[in-house]
Amino acid sequence: MCGIVGYVGPQQAQGVVIEGLRRLEYRGYDSAGIALVHDEQLVTDKRAGKLANLEKALAEQPLPASTTGIGHTRWATHGAPTDRNAHPHLGRDGRVAVIHNGIIENFAELRAELESAGHEMRSDTDTEVAAHLLEQEVEDGADLTTAMQRVCRRLTGAFTLVAVDAAEPDRVVAARRNSPLVVGLGDGENFLGSDVAAFIEHTREALELGQDQVVTLTRDGVAVSTFEGEAAEGKPYHVDWDLSAAEKGGFDWFMRKEIFEQPHAVADALLGRRDADGKLQLDEVRMSVDELRSIDKIIIVGCGTAFYAGLVAKYAIEHWTRIPCEVELSHEFRYRDPILTRTTLVVAISQSGETADTLMAIRHAREQHSKVLAICNTNGSTIPRESDAVIYTHAGPEIGVASTKGFTTQLIANYLLGLYLAQVRGSMFGDEIAKVTTELEGMPAAVQRVLDGADELYALAGRMRDARSVLFLGRHAGYPVALEGALKLKELAYLHAEGFAAGELKHGPIALIEPGLPVFCVVPPQGRDFLHDKMVSAIQEIRARGARTIVLAEEDDESVAAYADEMLRLPRVSTLLQPLLAVLPLQLFACELATQLGHDVDQPRNLAKSVTVE
Ligand code: G6P
Repeated sequence: MCGIVGYVGPQQAQGVVIEGLRRLEYRGYDSAGIALVHDEQLVTDKRAGKLANLEKALAEQPLPASTTGIGHTRWATHGAPTDRNAHPHLGRDGRVAVIHNGIIENFAELRAELESAGHEMRSDTDTEVAAHLLEQEVEDGADLTTAMQRVCRRLTGAFTLVAVDAAEPDRVVAARRNSPLVVGLGDGENFLGSDVAAFIEHTREALELGQDQVVTLTRDGVAVSTFEGEAAEGKPYHVDWDLSAAEKGGFDWFMRKEIFEQPHAVADALLGRRDADGKLQLDEVRMSVDELRSIDKIIIVGCGTAFYAGLVAKYAIEHWTRIPCEVELSHEFRYRDPILTRTTLVVAISQSGETADTLMAIRHAREQHSKVLAICNTNGSTIPRESDAVIYTHAGPEIGVASTKGFTTQLIANYLLGLYLAQVRGSMFGDEIAKVTTELEGMPAAVQRVLDGADELYALAGRMRDARSVLFLGRHAGYPVALEGALKLKELAYLHAEGFAAGELKHGPIALIEPGLPVFCVVPPQGRDFLHDKMVSAIQEIRARGARTIVLAEEDDESVAAYADEMLRLPRVSTLLQPLLAVLPLQLFACELATQLGHDVDQPRNLAKSVTVE
């Protein structure tokens, strides 16, 4: 949601900024714009629609040379996605240009104040007030950094603001509160980005900014301060992936590439988690053994796919630790007055680490003195920074809007957390923990085996191009997989899709079954597992009513074949780990069906990768 790029250095800023915006396209947006400082004047262009529209305009009417610039991709909140509302926005006299991510909650009040002082607003955005206020400050004699500090003190809500002042070339000033912003540290040049993808082709050295900080970039330096004007420091870090990870590497979509990266991603998520004696170690969990032993309730929060990973985690964590575990959507949790104590552990799952709903949820939990553990993929992001503990998923950058390797590595991190808690609290024997851990270590190969069958899914997608509605059924840990399979189809193929717990079928959803309706059925592993037979009965019931059943079952499970119109085979694993494999065919299917329907798989309509507003 909104991409932000800033540059100051010897290169032509236009190229650096546009390339940065391209790498942030995945975040989701509906207009794009750029401002450059040239000869003590600002030059800008901004266009509704895709970045290509802006590029076309720049090719037809090039902007003059400049080595200082800012650029923005906007996901509309206040005001329609038009040229006029696209960022940057300028102050009254066109001296200061501003781009913004977030929502300035008190903008109406500030706008009224500016209008009564004779300022005319040229857009419907909340952002424009910041441009006018900043320009007023610099015209009254403040430098841009001081102006930014003063203006930020007046704003409420969530914002990353980046500004340039025509009178101060070679300087870009930014501020952040509750919205993402990282600095890229170059040699004689410096960068800003919503995330490191914006500048990864130029530098892998980054600087993490704290909450309520202002940063001033010149060619040779980066100075950080608080909104009150006191000197502050960012936290430098090295980005452990390179440009190739942010490119498609021969695939048609980032999403497809990320699906096929899962054997590696799952292996990386598991790497280095056992000590020399084979016991689990989670170094990143900065909580003492006493603290971990005192936990008497776990609440998992997340949104979208991360929420579904949490639903799977509940089955495993409760089973292994015997600690009551709730799972809740972050935005519902935050505003319902949940019961939180010092012995509650809140687990926040977020691939991006920037989802505003989840961020607000963890802040609330910490205010109530509960401990927060983040499961996150993005180093330097806000959610792990504001948590007491973190388990990084080490999946590498996820660029496709629909989460894939994010989900499977979140499952791994949750399994590890559950087993680690069981180890610390003695709720499982050491050999039981070792058995599950060894099974987990076999998962990269099992994931690869499922992906090797991709062609079968592609053919199935070809046969289902005319589907108007698709259902997904699962039981136990397979139920969240059904929900995730449905979410993928909604996000990518824009199809009506719903996931149900198979046991609930008879209580309503079975009324939806009509001849030919495709229903994906996730069958739990066989053997002593009583769930299996109940799921097979559910499949028979819908088949008897004409549903077209697409059954995911273990490779040697013959009991369901007679009721399956299509059979998809999964390697044999235990019930709690099966979601890691069962989700893969559903990812492949959704990606392929959307491709065949001609949709943009990496940037589905209306969606944003990183939802940075509540
Ligand atoms: C957005 C994305 C989803 C994602 C969700 C949570 O809605 O479109 O794919 O699952 O945010 O994102 P997070 O970064 O917190 O995991």
